[in-house]
Amino acid sequence: MSPIEEYLQSNARRFQELLFEWLRIPSVSAIPECKGDVHRAGQWLQDYFTSLGLTSELIRTEGHPLVYAETPPVSGAPVVLVYGHYDVQPADPLERWDTPPFEPTERDGNIYARGASDDKGQLLTHVFAAEACMQGGKRLPFQIKFIIEGEEEVGSASLSKYLKENRKKLAANCVLVSDGCMFGPAQPAITYGLRGIVAMEMTLRGPSRDLHSGVFGGAVMNPAVALTRMLAAAIDENGKIRIPDFYKDVLPITESEHTQFSMLPFNEEQFFEKIGVAKSVGEKGFTSLERRWSRPSFDINGLTSGYQGEGSKTVIPSVASAKFTFRLVPNQNPAEIAANAKTFFESIKPEGVSIEIKYEHGAAGMVVDIDESKFIPPAAAALEQTFGRPPVFTREGGSIPIVAELSQVLKAETLLIGWGQDDDNAHSPNEKFSIGAFRDGILASARFWAEVGRSAAVNERLRT
Ligand code: BES
Ligand code: ZN
Repeated sequence: MSPIEEYLQSNARRFQELLFEWLRIPSVSAIPECKGDVHRAGQWLQDYFTSLGLTSELIRTEGHPLVYAETPPVSGAPVVLVYGHYDVQPADPLERWDTPPFEPTERDGNIYARGASDDKGQLLTHVFAAEACMQGGKRLPFQIKFIIEGEEEVGSASLSKYLKENRKKLAANCVLVSDGCMFGPAQPAITYGLRGIVAMEMTLRGPSRDLHSGVFGGAVMNPAVALTRMLAAAIDENGKIRIPDFYKDVLPITESEHTQFSMLPFNEEQFFEKIGVAKSVGEKGFTSLERRWSRPSFDINGLTSGYQGEGSKTVIPSVASAKFTFRLVPNQNPAEIAANAKTFFESIKPEGVSIEIKYEHGAAGMVVDIDESKFIPPAAAALEQTFGRPPVFTREGGSIPIVAELSQVLKAETLLIGWGQDDDNAHSPNEKFSIGAFRDGILASARFWAEVGRSAAVNERLRT
């Protein structure tokens, strides 16, 4: 066993305890009451970086803090910037959790807690791997920088601003992102694409107060009826989004990508069965992997109006609102899509209600040019050494808002490798992260650092 592997083995318990400690902090970025906890989670990470002897900072922003850390620079050698997030999604509905979301629990080889997989557990693998590579005061032959944010789940506004003002500080050759998934329990993946997003909220207001639906029903516009009619009009029976010009910038799926997807070891039936879905439904003419990874989509994320308690209440609600998102593919422009959606909904609004549409946040999708990548070969080697088989190349349907911007502003390539699973219940009750994935993730990351170090050393030798 190599000294690094020995270090990982003898520290495995401690690493898990550290993760548990961090998971106990409810760093929910969306909930204002959690602001102090989000700060505490950032502080926790910065303290850990400091304990490793790294130069580190907790950077205050208008929103939640950023955590920055770096190993010593090595002139002429590559710089890898690790990006991740320490904020988490709200835990509700709480009653659906088998154990409380912020009391991490070990069960059946998994760690159950909000943020276990998305993204605290995954993020820490790189920190612990770097720690293992630097044990005993060893210097890395290249530089690792860490930029970790607390606003990923709410659109990354503060990091976006910080990035533009600190290009030099964050400069890197590669941005390493571990906030995604493998392609199955034993199948490592390199993700070469993410979808973008546009998040909006629409509120319809009708009568000045809730009304008796018998006394007034049929004679006034019910905002809930208006809202559901309008939302239903956004998508047709073939799964096509009806916002004007919505598809104008969507690049067609190439023949080779279509073939590549169809060769992936994907068991469609099993995949949908696990989530209680009998059959994939979506845009006609596309496979379910294409629908999830390479085609845009529209979803209602929250719908609020009227009486929600037990039994019935005969009421015409005065207000109805919906939170909804579009998932975008690369080349679609989030601001333009948001503007067109607003115009569309305003144009179909029935008489008798007023409308307010808010653009919450947006981000572009991205794809990596696999053939041009310098960091995929060392990553693929590290993955194969760890999981015993080469990675497959996948895209993801989820969004990591800052990723496209990081690579554009820093002119760095993006490397997305993750240790999560599709069924980790990210954003759902009973989120989990497998202890095996946590351990393998640390090992794979350490091997990646070793591979990058090796090629940095080779380059150095070639230059001298
Ligand atoms: N980790 C996810 C994104 C993800 C999911 C990547 C699955 C790859 C596979 C991330 O934390 C996330 O959930 N992002 C949000 C962003 C949004 C709130 C702006 C998302 O995709 O909903
Ligand atoms: Zn995440």
